[in-house]
Formats: sequence, C-alpha cells, structure tokens
Amino acid sequence: MTTTPPLDVYLQPEQLRAALRKDAGAGLTSNPKWLPPKYFYDAHGSELFEQITELPEYFPTRTERELLRRFSGEIADVASPEILVELGSGSSEKTRLLLDAGTGHGTLHTYVPQDVSVSALEGAAEQIGAEFPNLTVRGVVSDFTESLHHLPRGGRRMIAFLGGTLGNLVPAERAEFLSRIADVLETGEHLLLGVGLVTDPAVLVPAYDDAAGVTAKFNLNVLRVLNAQLGADFPLENFRHVALWDADNEWIEMRLEAACAISVRIEELDLDIEFSAGEQLRTEISAKFTLEGIRKELTDAGFGIERTWRDPDERFALVCAARN
Ligand code: SAH
Ligand code: AVI
Repeated sequence: MTTTPPLDVYLQPEQLRAALRKDAGAGLTSNPKWLPPKYFYDAHGSELFEQITELPEYFPTRTERELLRRFSGEIADVASPEILVELGSGSSEKTRLLLDAGTGHGTLHTYVPQDVSVSALEGAAEQIGAEFPNLTVRGVVSDFTESLHHLPRGGRRMIAFLGGTLGNLVPAERAEFLSRIADVLETGEHLLLGVGLVTDPAVLVPAYDDAAGVTAKFNLNVLRVLNAQLGADFPLENFRHVALWDADNEWIEMRLEAACAISVRIEELDLDIEFSAGEQLRTEISAKFTLEGIRKELTDAGFGIERTWRDPDERFALVCAARN
C-alpha cells in the first residue's frame, strides 16, 4: 500500500481565493487589463499544462529534460545537495533525473516539492515517495512570490526552479524573488535555474500557439477559474487566445482578446467589467533570457554562477549558481 506523504500547507484555499479577489480587482480595472499567471493552475489547468509539455511545438520541457538527463550528475557534483527544494514543482516529472543523480552521489536525503497547486503536489509527492523509498519527501503548498522562510533547513540545500517559470515573473518581481531566495540560502548553497533562451520567434510563437489548441484552452482556463471562484460570468466562447513575441522586452505574451463588446459581472467583487471589441487582457508573460542577462540578475541578487549548460540549438539553459 502506498501512503501519500504529508503536505505542509502555508497557503489555505481561502487565502488563495482572497489573493485572487485582490489581484482580479486590481488587474481587471487597470488599463490595459491583466491577470497574474498563478491562477491558471487549478486541477484542470495543471492537467492542461501537462498536456502542453507533450505538444510537438512546445520544446522547452523536452529540451530541459534532455539537459537534465545529460548533466544531472555534474549538477550533483557541483552542488552536493542534501536537501533538494523545488519551487513550482508541478508534476516533478523531470526532477526524477536530479533525484537519481543526487541519491547516486550519496548526499541527497530529502526532496521538498513546493507548489501553489495542491492537486499537482499530491500526485507528485505520492509517486516520488513510492519511487524513492529512501528519500524523505515533504510537499509544501505555498506561493513562491511570498516569503520563502518556511522552506526547510537542516542540511546543504539546492533550490531548483525549472521549466522556465522564472520567465513568468515580470522583471521587478523576478529581482524580488531572486533576492528572497538569496535571503533564505546560506553561503555556498545552490540555486539551479532552468531558463528559456532568446531564440527565433518562428520557433517560440508556435510553442505558445499550438495547432491542437491546448495552449488556448490553458489560457482560457483562467476565466473558468474566475467564474468558479468569484461568481463571474465570463463567456469563454467570446474570448480568443493570442500569443505574440514582444521583441523589445524579449518575452512571449499571452492574451485573451474579446471577440465583441462584452460586459462581465464579477459577483464576489460586486464589479462590472467592460471589454470593447478587440480589447486584450494580458494573462502571462514568458520572458526569455540571454546568459549575460541572467548572470547580471543573479549577480545583483547575491549569487555567483558556477556552471551553465545549454542544448545544441541554444534554446534552453540550466544555470547552477552559489549563494555568495
Ligand atoms: N516545474 C514544472 C512545472 C512548471 S508549470 C516543469 O518544469 O514542468 C509552473 C508551476 O508553477 C505550476 O505547477 C504552478 O502551479 C506553479 N506556480 C505558478 N505560480 C506559482 C506561485 N506563485 N507559487 C507557487 N507555485 C506556482
Ligand atoms: C510554466 N511556464 C514556464 C510555462 C511557460 O512556458 O511560460 C507556462 C506556459 N504558458 C503557455 N504554455 C506554457
């Protein structure tokens, strides 16, 4: 019989709903309108994200997996982690490669997956616990954009932040986030980042606008979340998925475009929102990096890069940095 490893909950569903109320109230009354991307990931959205990772157009996951397959041993040699904390761990699917290498290295004894999505964490913690019986697995439900001081201590840590999720934070949030990670790490502990690199828009845009329409469903899911959680009445069929490359900011931007003039009632906020025909709501940015750019951001936050690994097409990088 398998038992689900315990989850430490630092974000109760009611707190997440309160944050959604606040963010939706602010973002939907701004001009242009926006929403933060963390609300994509209810159980349905987390499942849609897993489907995205298998799409032929969505290269980041398989590219990062191949880098981890080739270089997890080197990463374990550089960082010698005793505790692996993974932020925004989702299904933890690629993380097995790091766990294999860390246990093979003889140091790793604890894995702490962290996510805002309880459904993703429960599934991942149970599977990893069963596959790695000698590892202590302890899932943490929290928001990584808030304080990280609840993360465990008691051994040399490596914090992994994979998948390119760093790029979903706007630059000011990113600087704050990297400084918070630096704050909780001791000198010599490591941060492992997986980041998408600036590459050909002809490759990038289809990765966020796939032919099967899965990314469109993922994007629209945020409106389903607002309908379910805040008693809103967004008509999903009247919004169109948009993905574009912003060359100045070097990020992909996902938006939802109103097909016609739409009035939306958000019952819980006692708010009516008007969309004009063609108006776009920003739902996500996915910034891409250069190695110089990420080096500067890490240096500014108090890290020194020890190693970087890139795929042959230079579309994705793993960056291992030590806290100064
Ligand atoms: N690391 C995985 C999953 C990436 S998807 C991979 O590489 O495939 C992004 C993950 O981050 C999702 O599981 C989502 O629930 C989580 N996430 C997004 N915003 C978050 C936040 N503010 N705090 C905690 N987790 C968050
Ligand atoms: C989780 N994150 C890194 C994904 C990305 O590529 O920015 C989310 C995603 N959005 C659309 N497709 C995938």
